[in-house]
Amino acid sequence: MTLGRPRRILVTGATSGIGEAFARTLPRDCDLVLTGRNEAKLDQLAHELASERRKVEVVAADLAASAAVDAIVDTARRGPLDGLVNNAGLGPYGRFRDAATDELTAAVDVNCRAPVALTHALLPHLLEDARSGDRRAFVINVASTAAYAPVPRMAVYAATKAFVLSFTEALATELRSEPLDVLALCPGPVRTRALPFRFAPGTRSPEDVARLALDAVGRTNVAYTDMATRAMLAPLSNARAVVSRALGAGLALTQRGG
Ligand SMILES: NC(=O)c1ccc[n+]([C@@H]2O[C@H](COP(=O)([O-])OP(=O)(O)OC[C@H]3O[C@@H](n4cnc5c(N)ncnc54)[C@H](OP(=O)(O)O)[C@@H]3O)[C@@H](O)[C@H]2O)c1
Repeated sequence: MTLGRPRRILVTGATSGIGEAFARTLPRDCDLVLTGRNEAKLDQLAHELASERRKVEVVAADLAASAAVDAIVDTARRGPLDGLVNNAGLGPYGRFRDAATDELTAAVDVNCRAPVALTHALLPHLLEDARSGDRRAFVINVASTAAYAPVPRMAVYAATKAFVLSFTEALATELRSEPLDVLALCPGPVRTRALPFRFAPGTRSPEDVARLALDAVGRTNVAYTDMATRAMLAPLSNARAVVSRALGAGLALTQRGG
């Protein structure tokens, strides 16, 4: 069974940064389902990326609202689906006590609730398509090096990313015998509008990050750990995150299974 060339991929948060880089990096004959809130940007991407060989569908939806997930799932189920990139995310920066409650809970909804709901709703479709075509599918959940340690002034953001990493690793283990690769992408600083210090040395381009993630799909030797060694590796993971943050160039990919 092979990964094969992906036929149709869903990318959330495709209107900017890493998500847009995923959309632009995927093979030109792979159909795309792109989501975000910015309708004008979605239309621009659809216009630019669609071709005779590729259909691009867009869904404008606010992932802080649960109805958004239903709209995206409806569209995604209307065709084959070989991959889901749960990339949309946001990270309020500043003192927890000064932040608006809505801003904090939106980060939890977009970063945690939406990927769980989308993955849960689309998993049967991904697995069925993969099995029937004798191929593999994938889920990439975009976490962060912030997943490895608490970050004061980004307390909620770092906690949501720890959730994404934990969720992804457990899911990958649960699904290890299925034709599905489940990866957590944990970049360090990436040059997107979300990064306050865009031009610091050692930051990565969103294109680099998207390419690294897509190249990792289907490989089992990216950074394999299993549940039993997780506890032993935790201090090491934290140390690695601190070092990579200090270097400003961290990117870790964790894959379970295989
Ligand atoms: N940049 C970094 O240094 C870095 C490092 C590690 C991890 N990450 C992670 O990478 C992912 C992408 O971030 P980025 O740096 O590329 O940031 P970005 O350029 O700000 O892009 C964020 C994307 O998420 C979408 N999004 C945000 N809130 C949304 C909502 N409520 N509903 C629907 N879509 C929403 C945005 O769409 P609209 O603008 O259309 O709403 C946009 O497409 C995030 O999960 C982030 O946590 C980033």
